[in-house]
Amino acid sequence: MAPKTKTILITGGAGFIGSAFAKSLNISTNKIVIIDKLTYAGSLQRLEHLKKTVTFYKQDICRYKSLEKIFLKEKPDIVYHFAAETHVDRSNLDIKPFTQSNVAGTQNVIQASIKSNIKKFIHISTDEVYGSIAKGSVNERAALKPSNPYAITKALADQLVMLAININQFPAIIVRPVNTFGPWQYPEKFIPLAIIQLLDSKKVPLYGKGHQIRCWLSIEDCIEAIHLISKKGTLGEVYNIGSSYHQDNLSTAKTILKKLGKTQREILYVKDRLNHDFRYSVNYQKLKKLGWKQKHSFTKTLDDTIAWVTNQRPWCTKKRKELQNYWKDIYKSKN
Ligand SMILES: NC(=O)c1ccc[n+]([C@@H]2O[C@H](COP(=O)([O-])OP(=O)(O)OC[C@H]3O[C@@H](n4cnc5c(N)ncnc54)[C@H](O)[C@@H]3O)[C@@H](O)[C@H]2O)c1
Repeated sequence: MAPKTKTILITGGAGFIGSAFAKSLNISTNKIVIIDKLTYAGSLQRLEHLKKTVTFYKQDICRYKSLEKIFLKEKPDIVYHFAAETHVDRSNLDIKPFTQSNVAGTQNVIQASIKSNIKKFIHISTDEVYGSIAKGSVNERAALKPSNPYAITKALADQLVMLAININQFPAIIVRPVNTFGPWQYPEKFIPLAIIQLLDSKKVPLYGKGHQIRCWLSIEDCIEAIHLISKKGTLGEVYNIGSSYHQDNLSTAKTILKKLGKTQREILYVKDRLNHDFRYSVNYQKLKKLGWKQKHSFTKTLDDTIAWVTNQRPWCTKKRKELQNYWKDIYKSKN
């Protein structure tokens, strides 16, 4: 067997994007270490094919001592920090797990990385840190104006990474992807949720009139961008990961309804989210300059996601049913 040249540590590697990233790595030349608390959103099923090849630690990043032990034992060369609480609706109900994992947890991951002398740290942030953008697109120099609790904790995490860059010469890069979707996304997020609701003959909940605009990025394009930024990006910099697929949520819902042979009667209009950001839009020229091109269309990724939800229907239905408990607090039906 060829010797492993690099140790790559992934936090949140049992989540949607982290697991896709782990699967994209070359296992013959890299040792892959995954740390994940396995919250409701984490699942080892996503890593089924990798289970014999990765070193997995069920570990909460909020527990510093045991986290540091893993870092000192594994001596990672590169850390990709995906672990976070990620659902805006849940953050509106209770911000505490978000401040713990996204802020204090990130600080712990930074500290353990400094302690173990890592060579590179890729911090996965989000376009939501810029807040709602009335018109045009924002580049990486724009002020952070997060408005929902999730985005606020992600912006605080970015500031902590920046602080470490400035004070400790921490070798970090921050990436800010737009709404990413595809197979294995937890079915509380809009697209897989809409699909499983419709397959299970339930309605698709849509906030307000569904006019909020979002940019959609395929999981494959997101992963390719993270690889490229990690390889060619400059330490200490921020890179937006954008998409040319902008549309309002009503249009996205209509496309899904059409693909599944349903009509608009299957939309359940619910009371709008508090402080619901109207529009996100990032300028990603900096990423394009590194040579990134968006390759996967919205339609193809949607087809792949529908196929995946259909194949994994028992899992998705189970998760959908688990959500019912807190839905009554979130979705106040208007019809
Ligand atoms: N999905 C998107 O559209 C999107 C867009 C932009 C940025 N992001 C960012 O990308 C990252 C990954 O997002 P995702 O969609 O894969 O999220 P996800 O919710 O699917 O996965 C998050 C993972 O982190 C783990 N985790 C949470 N708290 C933890 C803790 N305290 N200790 C250890 N593990 C913990 C969970 O168990 C889960 O496996 C997040 O940082 C998110 O903010 C996501």
